[in-house]
Order: sequence, then C-alpha cells, then structure tokens
Amino acid sequence: MDTGLKDRVAIVAASSKGIGRAAAFALAAEGANLAICARDPGALDETAAQIRRQFQVEVFAEPLDVSDDARVRAFADAAHHRFGRIDICVTNAGGPPAKPFAETTMEEWDRAWQLNLRSIVSFAHAVLPRMRERRWGRLITITSVAVKQPVPELVLSNSVRAGVLGLVRSLATQYGPDNITVNNVGPGYTATERIRNLAEASAKARGITAAEYEANLAKDIPLRRLASPEEVADAIVWLASERASYITGQTILVDGGTYRGL
Ligand SMILES: NC(=O)c1ccc[n+]([C@@H]2O[C@H](COP(=O)([O-])OP(=O)(O)OC[C@H]3O[C@@H](n4cnc5c(N)ncnc54)[C@H](OP(=O)(O)O)[C@@H]3O)[C@@H](O)[C@H]2O)c1
Repeated sequence: MDTGLKDRVAIVAASSKGIGRAAAFALAAEGANLAICARDPGALDETAAQIRRQFQVEVFAEPLDVSDDARVRAFADAAHHRFGRIDICVTNAGGPPAKPFAETTMEEWDRAWQLNLRSIVSFAHAVLPRMRERRWGRLITITSVAVKQPVPELVLSNSVRAGVLGLVRSLATQYGPDNITVNNVGPGYTATERIRNLAEASAKARGITAAEYEANLAKDIPLRRLASPEEVADAIVWLASERASYITGQTILVDGGTYRGL
C-alpha cells in the first residue's frame, strides 16, 4: 500500500516515549521528515538520533512542555522554517492523574485542560493556516477509549478529552473545504513504559506480579491483551496517509474491542 507519506513533514508531539514515539517511528518508516518534542531533552535526543539512523529522514527535535502555548507556537514556526511546510500534526501529551472526583483539586482541573485540550488548540492554531495555504493537511489527536466509554477513576481524562471530540468535529467541518482532515485516535490499554510502571506499582500493592496484573486487565478486553504502541501508530499512519483522504471528523478506537457500544 502506497501511503504517499514520503517527503511529507509531520509534527509529532510528546514523542520521546510510548505511543507518540511509535507514531514518529512509523511515519519516518514511510519516509516522512519529522519535528518532535517532549520535556526531557535526553530521551528526546536519543529518539531523534535513532530515527535518523534507522530511516535516514530529517528530524528536528525541541524540548518543551506542550501546555506552554508560546513554546508550541515557536516550535511549529521553527519546524516550518526548517522544512518549508507542515503537512501532518499529531497531538499528544501525558495524561491527567487518576483519582475519584472528590479528591480532585481545581489546580488539577486547570492542568488537565491545559495539558489535554488547550495544547491541541495551540498546535491547531499554529499548523492549520500553513496546511490551508498548501490545501493539504492532516490533524490527528491522540486521546483515549475514554472519549467513548468513560473509565472509572479517570474523571479528569473523561471530562477534558470529551472536549477534544468537540474540537475535532468543529475543525473537520471548518477545514474540510481546504482539503484538511481532522481525526482522533483513541487507544485502549497500551503496553507503554508508563503502563508497565503503573502495572508494576499496582501489582506490588496487591501482592501479585506485573504479568498477573496485566492478565487481569486483559480479561475485559475482547482481544485478551494490551495493544502495542506500534498498533496504535499504524492507525495514525493510515489517517495521515493518502489512503484515508475521505475520512474526517472521526474517532478511530484502537482498543481491542474494549468499547462495547454500537
Ligand atoms: N498507554 C495507555 O494505555 C493509554 C491508553 C489510553 C490513552 N493514553 C494516553 O495516550 C497518551 C500517551 O500515553 P503513553 O502511554 O504513550 O505515555 P508515555 O509512555 O508516558 O509517553 C508520554 C510521552 O509524552 C511526553 N510528555 C508527557 N507530558 C508532556 C508534556 N507536558 N509536554 C511534552 N511532552 C510530554 C513524554 O516525555 P517527557 O516526560 O520527557 O515530556 C513521553 O515522550 C497520554 O495522554 C495517555 O493518557 C494512553
């Protein structure tokens, strides 16, 4: 399948680890040049160096916090200056803390909105005018299966990510006439470093092994296992590709069947 991604330019946010990193690798494997970011410069530089070595594409890497609007805009400007175009933008970030509603603070609500919704607005503001000029673009948000099926104890994520769907739908309508598609990818449980660490901590607290804890998680997933980050990345590559040119305003769940609705 020709994805048509060779020589395209993709921003992949929060991409030194996990799903973002897998998306950056998968786009580079298709020949796209990249602009990547994350807060820790060490892991980010290592990821950039690995991608350059493995795929011989250009990678521009800048350490930043995606909730810093000015830094995000400056990063997008610098990427545009470096490559002369931005075709694809994959938004990503860490997730808000898991806790019952009564224990959440107003500071955590502010932080969740900044991290998981406002950061997408920053990227969208920065990249959509550039895509519009070239009459081609792909904006892809990474959220969670929680946008379709709220997860108990993830009230911050459940609430703020629902707003992302409103944004995705609105932008898909507004930018469709410019040949820009806007879609959302909702991962279910995915075996990233973060989930492995969480599994280890939760397993320890319950006196079981991490493998047993993961097996318990998998019991409720029809495919009976966690996703790999690469499986989520494949959906992102497809949405970014020429092969998904008539798909917009959609949420694609990569959740092994976790969401039970129609
Ligand atoms: N893994 C799952 O099971 C799962 C399921 C559903 C949804 N999700 C969501 O998918 C997203 C990615 O999850 P993941 O499992 O891939 O996480 P991960 O393995 O912890 O990777 C997160 C990446 O984002 C970067 N990052 C985090 N906060 C950032 C910030 N404020 N600014 C810039 N970069 C930031 C991290 O680098 P630095 O720390 O150096 O910044 C790292 O590169 C999260 O929003 C998560 O809630 C994950």
